[in-house]
Amino acid sequence: MGTEESSIESGVSETLTITDNRTGKSYEVPITDETIRAIDLRQIKVNPDDFGMMTYDPAYTNTASCRSAITYIDGDKGILQHRGYPIEALCEHSSYLEVAYLLVFGELPTTPQLERWVWDVTHHTFVHEDIKAMLEGFRYDAHPMGMLVSAVGAMSTFYPDAKMIEDPEERYMAAIRMIAKMPTLAAFSYRHSLGLPYIYPDNDLSYAGNFLNMLRKMTEVKFEPDPRLERALDVLFILHADHEQNCSTSAVRSVGSSQVDPYSAVAAGVAALYGPLHGGANEQVLRMLRRIETVDNIPDFLNGVKAREEKLMGFGHRVYKNYDPRARIIKKHVDEVLDAVGLDNPLVEIATELEKRALDDEFFTSRKLYPNVDFYSGLIYEALGIPAAMFTVIFAIPRTSGWISQWLEMTDDSEQKIARPRQIYTGDRDLDYVPIEDRNGPEKIAGPPARRPVKSRRGA
Ligand code: CMC
Repeated sequence: MGTEESSIESGVSETLTITDNRTGKSYEVPITDETIRAIDLRQIKVNPDDFGMMTYDPAYTNTASCRSAITYIDGDKGILQHRGYPIEALCEHSSYLEVAYLLVFGELPTTPQLERWVWDVTHHTFVHEDIKAMLEGFRYDAHPMGMLVSAVGAMSTFYPDAKMIEDPEERYMAAIRMIAKMPTLAAFSYRHSLGLPYIYPDNDLSYAGNFLNMLRKMTEVKFEPDPRLERALDVLFILHADHEQNCSTSAVRSVGSSQVDPYSAVAAGVAALYGPLHGGANEQVLRMLRRIETVDNIPDFLNGVKAREEKLMGFGHRVYKNYDPRARIIKKHVDEVLDAVGLDNPLVEIATELEKRALDDEFFTSRKLYPNVDFYSGLIYEALGIPAAMFTVIFAIPRTSGWISQWLEMTDDSEQKIARPRQIYTGDRDLDYVPIEDRNGPEKIAGPPARRPVKSRRGA
C-alpha cells in the first residue's frame, strides 16, 4: 500500500499496456489515481474506421464518473469521512448544520461563520403560500415522497433566477433555500397525510427541533422538543448528509450536467431516493419486521431469503462490504430514543435477533452482507411516532446538503460535460419498411404483457 499511496499523493502517472489480441497491437495508456480514462481505449480499433473500444458497465459498478473531495468511503474497512473528518467524530461533536456547512464549503466553520450560516438557514425556512396551496391539492392519501418530488421541482418556478447557475449569490441562495425549506416541505406532506393543519416553522428552535415542531405541534402555544429526541434526530441527519456517488447523487449530477437549475436537479435526486433499493429501504425494513411478527418466525423468514423469495431489507450495500459505520452509530441511539419516549418496541427485539442470526449465517457472511444505515434508522423514526411512509422523506432532508454540495462541485469542475453514456446497440438494422397491410404477426391482439417473473434486482 505504501508505494500506491505515495504515487497517488505525488500525482505521478503510471501506465497500463494493453495488447489487442485481434490485431497484435499494443497500446500504452496513462494511469492516474489507479484509474485509466475510458476515452483512452477509443484508439483501440481493428479497422481505422471502427468506432473504437468502449467499456461496458451497466450499473457503474467500476466506473468513476467524477473527481470529488467531499466524501471518502472505504467500503472494505467500513470507513466514512466527510472532507476528511471521520463520521464518528462529526456525530459526536458537530450539529447537522455544521456538517452541512462543511460539505458545502469544504471546511469546518469558525463561530461567526457558523452563526451566519445557521441564521441564513433559519430565516429561509418558510415556503411561499402558493407552494402550500399546491401541496393542499394532493389527494389525502398521496405518498409524501411523491409530494416532495413535486414541491422541490416546483421551487424552480418560485426562484427562476436560480437558472443563473454560475452566479455566486444565486448558488449560495439555492443552497440555503433548499437546506432550509426541505424540513418544511417534508413536515407539510406529513401533516397532509393526517389531515392536520400545516405548522409553520419556529425560528427559535434548532434545525431538528423545528422539524419536530412542524411534525408534532397541536394546541400548545410553544412546542418544546425533547432534547434527547432532538439530538438523536440531528445525529440521524448527520449520518444521512452525504454518501458520495450513490444513485440519487448521481441523478442530481447527471440531471444537473444539462445546466438545469439546482431545484430541478435536486428534484431528480429526491425521485431516485424514493426507490426501495435506495432511500425507500428503511420503510421496507419496518414492513419486513412487522411481517416477521415474532422472533420465532425468523428462521422461516431467513430460509425464504436464502431461497431468493425475497431480500433481507436493510442488509447489503454496493460499497460497504463490512459493517456500515452509520448503522453502528445509529444502533447506539435506538435504546436512547426508546428510553426517551418510554416505549418497549417489540420490533427492536426482532431486529436485534435477525441481525445476529444473519451475521452467523454463511449465506450472508460469504456475500459480505452486513446491516446498512437503513436497518436501524426506521426503528428510531418509529419510536419518534413517524409513520413508515415518511422515512424516506426524512432521509431526503439531510441528503439535500450532500446533493447541493455535489452539484456545486460538479458545476465548478471544468472536466464535466453533459452526462451522456454510450450503449451497445442490440437491435436490428437497415430493415426494409413493411406497409401495415403486409405485416404478418401473431393472431393475438397485443395487450398488457403477462407478468414477468421477478428477477433478482441489482442496484445501489
Ligand atoms: N438480501 C439477500 N440477498 C442479498 C441482499 C439482501 N439484502 N443484498 C444482496 N444480496 C445478494 C444478492 O442476491 C447477490 O447474491 P448472488 O451473488 O448469489 O446473486 C449478492 O448478495 C450480491 O448482491 P448484489 O445485488 O450484486 O449487490 P448490489 O451491490 O448490486 O446491491 C443493494 C446493493 C443495497 C441494492 C442490495 O444489497 C439490496 O438490495 N439490499 C436491500 C435493500 C437495502 O437495504 N437498500 C439500502 C441501501 S443503504 C442506503 C442507501 O444507500 O440508500
